[in-house]
Amino acid sequence: MTYRTHRCGDLRLEDKGKKVVLSGWVKRSRDLGGMTFVDLRDRYGVTQLVFDMERDPALSTVARGLGREYVIRVEGQVAERSSKNPQMLTGDVEILVQKLEVLSVSKVPPFTIEDETDGGEELRMRYRYLDLRRNINQRNLILRHNLALAIRNHLSSNDFLEIETPYLIKSTPEGARDFVVPSRMHPGRFYALPQSPQTFKQLLMVSGYDRYFQIVRCFRDEDFRADRQPEFTQVDCEMAFADREEVFKVCEALVRHVFHEVRNMDLPQIPRMSWDEAMKKYGSDKPDIRFHMTFVEINELAQNKGFKVFDAVDLVVGINAPGGASYSRKELDQLTAFVQRPQIGAKGLVYVKCNEDGTFKSSVDKFFSQEDLAAWAKKFNAAPGDLLLVLAGETMKVRKQLSELRLEMGKRMNLKDKNTFAPLWVVDFPLLEMDEETGRYHAMHHPFTAPVKEDAHRMEKEPQNARANAYDLVINGVEVGGGSIRIHEREMQRKMFQALGFTEEEAEKQFGFLLGAFEYGAPPHGGIALGFDRLAALLGGSDSIRDYIAFPKNNAGKDIMIDAPAAISKEQMEELELKNLKTPEEKEKQQ
Ligand code: AMO
Repeated sequence: MTYRTHRCGDLRLEDKGKKVVLSGWVKRSRDLGGMTFVDLRDRYGVTQLVFDMERDPALSTVARGLGREYVIRVEGQVAERSSKNPQMLTGDVEILVQKLEVLSVSKVPPFTIEDETDGGEELRMRYRYLDLRRNINQRNLILRHNLALAIRNHLSSNDFLEIETPYLIKSTPEGARDFVVPSRMHPGRFYALPQSPQTFKQLLMVSGYDRYFQIVRCFRDEDFRADRQPEFTQVDCEMAFADREEVFKVCEALVRHVFHEVRNMDLPQIPRMSWDEAMKKYGSDKPDIRFHMTFVEINELAQNKGFKVFDAVDLVVGINAPGGASYSRKELDQLTAFVQRPQIGAKGLVYVKCNEDGTFKSSVDKFFSQEDLAAWAKKFNAAPGDLLLVLAGETMKVRKQLSELRLEMGKRMNLKDKNTFAPLWVVDFPLLEMDEETGRYHAMHHPFTAPVKEDAHRMEKEPQNARANAYDLVINGVEVGGGSIRIHEREMQRKMFQALGFTEEEAEKQFGFLLGAFEYGAPPHGGIALGFDRLAALLGGSDSIRDYIAFPKNNAGKDIMIDAPAAISKEQMEELELKNLKTPEEKEKQQ
């Protein structure tokens, strides 16, 4: 038996008169007395089926009984429709059905499988296999597939080899928490799932595979955000005998290729910005440069004028929202409430309206004269009609707060066009970062990242002032990728571990295998990993990477469809010698 001669998106007017066989899902059926119309769906499209009561009453009676999402097979003849539907690719034709077979029945689905569905997020996640029948999800998964294909083809034709690295490993150095897997054969011992293939790709460089890539799953036990999943995919690359320029060249060519293949778009040349400049001008290490609104520091104009809030702080800094002077009192109050939300944490917001008549109206008129405010406006390069928004506080904190406000203003003023792509390399990150909790330095990227050449001499005495030869690829404010040139010399690695407060023994215990490998001829090397899910979401115009993952976790890190994570049986726990652990049910009983 042939299930189909055509797929549901195939048939056109040229096929009129053909005998065809189609199989698919009943999207909807309409019973118009003598005629029954059924829309048959598969992943290629929808075709209208017609059952005529006069011609074949028995068949039409069966057709009337078809429920939504039944799986059927039909045989029939292609006919021209009398009322055509230009919205559908197959809208000129319909099938006059001669034979109908129900292949599988369906319960009434818990939500409508339409572009505009009535199902909420939770319900759709629980029935993800039904949600995936919807066009939008199909489009997203097709985009993801095309993206993977474009990446593989491009890298492969540039001499990169895709090499798999293991999933059951030992802790990797990316700085998040590990997911661990208990070992039955070695009770009390655990594998860690890789946060990235970082150490393995470096070993492959030592082995001479000078251009490696892998589209690879990574696992990180981190707090949830819309652009994070506990398991996600990287396009991981590493190159030997490559400096930063070469990594940039290869990565830019790749990114340009995928934008061309997937979006038919030519990306502009990717500009570069130092981390220092990004923090100073945008308050973020991943600035969205689709719009300007860069920070202007006004300490010398704003301090010592009697306004205590400004006088006591490190930094008074603001942005100019062009055309914002027309904002109402209510809108300004909303902005103040926005920066005061606990997640942002500013105490208040100062505004200055640059009126059309050349005067100024501010929330600090009591402390600042019209001349003072005119000097501010000049510094901000503001024109009549503009709105200045100013925050004050401790340097890094206030920059972060203003960065959030800048993004909010970008949204409110429609400056974040989804079809504009503004890529940026952020370079020269600090090598080390102080961990407030432990009071120890940790590597901002990871401990194998080399310092920039000019700062190598700082490694002995002032490593905290060294810049890293690390870089991030940012597009529209999303950190799409990150990488670095690695340390390949034993002595430099020793200094790095020392700066991180590792003893020789600790370093040896954790990364001895890599340090050992470096003693057998390690070439200079470097690389980058792109967040594959983030790239897919960006190309598809979505903020949430979940939309581009077939079976994502929800915002509590759970898969509610399969109910994971779940308790394991007593026997399994015993076998793994996790005996003293209690199951959640036991814990509940105890309380
Ligand atoms: P990094 O930690 O910067 O670098 O990760 C690289 C890229 O992976 C993406 N990413 C994520 N995407 C979704 N969910 C997550 N939880 C998540 N975490 C990271 C981001 C990020 O830019 N081994 C180094 C790379 C290298 O040095 O070559 C690494 O993993 O887009």
